[in-house]
Amino acid sequence: MSSVMSPKCLFFYTLQLLILLQAKVFCFQHKVGDLSAWNIPTAANPDVYIKWSNKTSFRVGDSLMFLYPPSQDSVIQVTPQSYKTCNIKDPILFMNDGNSLFNITQPGDFYFTSGEAGHCQKGQKLHIFLDGKGAIAYAPSEAETAADGPSYQQNFGSIPTAAASSIRFSTVFGSLIVFAIWVLV
Ligand SMILES: *[C@@H]1O[C@H](CO)[C@@H](O)[C@H](O)[C@H]1NC(C)=O
Ligand SMILES: *[C@@H]1O[C@H](CO)[C@@H](O)[C@H](O)[C@H]1NC(C)=O
Repeated sequence: MSSVMSPKCLFFYTLQLLILLQAKVFCFQHKVGDLSAWNIPTAANPDVYIKWSNKTSFRVGDSLMFLYPPSQDSVIQVTPQSYKTCNIKDPILFMNDGNSLFNITQPGDFYFTSGEAGHCQKGQKLHIFLDGKGAIAYAPSEAETAADGPSYQQNFGSIPTAAASSIRFSTVFGSLIVFAIWVLV
């Protein structure tokens, strides 16, 4: 009895693995609220950000894109307490360039509100949650950084997640192709 896979089977197994990897490594840029502008919700759709975060699945490596006229709005990442009470002082992260990308580098809860006075009270706030399932495994150095950080979720600067993933992916892809060819020959 042989438990070794036939070359053909191995090849298809490899292909399947590649497809899986590709699905895992693909990173999304989520346009917040599916809206062309990060703004105070309209009366017609007061729960737009709650509904949007509810129906969207986020993964580590994805990013949130907040679009708005920079003269009129801004985005701040805040603590859960500040999210609840609409406290816009001492944010964790402040972005006001009108085209703000927040890179999700770890699982957990993330809280955002507008940085403009009065906007959060009118529902311009966003809470997202990542359970860590389907997360891309990061290098230990990044994991350590996260563990050493404060207890609230924070953005650790510009970790080039998309780039790192694609490098990792092409390395894996390359080795698998070589392996598949080797098996077939
Ligand atoms: C969020 O989704 C759940 C089901 O997935 C639903 O029961 C709940 O009402 C939703 N909440 C909002 C605010 O849309
Ligand atoms: C997220 O990543 C993009 C591209 O790598 C970068 O331009 C941007 O500044 C990052 N965002 C933050 C808040 O660091």
